[in-house]
Amino acid sequence: MRTFIEHKKENPGDDLCSALIDACRREEEDESFILSMLILLFYAGHDNMMNFLGNAILALDKHQAEQATLREQPARVYECVDELLRYDSPVQFFLLFAKGPFPWVPKPLPPAAKS
Ligand code: HEM
Repeated sequence: MRTFIEHKKENPGDDLCSALIDACRREEEDESFILSMLILLFYAGHDNMMNFLGNAILALDKHQAEQATLREQPARVYECVDELLRYDSPVQFFLLFAKGPFPWVPKPLPPAAKS
């Protein structure tokens, strides 16, 4: 990742990583901040997407009628993605902690509550 950052610094392009590196330079953030942001971005972007695509292909393969409907009506792809995310979610466990009182949910959470 450090090699990649150096490469992007020397060869900036019209891409998200170059924009992030440039923003960090302007904000005078140190190298470890850029590194942790890029690792978060790569991990979050790659892992969830990879698992979603695997689950989605498997689900469509198991449900041939739904797959045929999608092929006949490709405009329904957005609805289909929502349903695939619900049907077999790639993120089934995500631990969040309330940093302070969190009253914006039906059952308000006290500080440090886990969800
Ligand atoms: C099907 C694909 C994806 C799913 C299911 C997914 C799911 C999630 C979930 C559940 C979270 C946690 C949200 C929360 O804090 O409550 C998250 C965070 C995040 N995702 Fe995704 N994601 C996907 C694709 C991507 C892609 C393609 C990128 C970037 C290229 C990305 C970047 C991020 C980042 C950077 C965070 C952390 C945000 C923050 O804490 O400020 N995700 N994602």
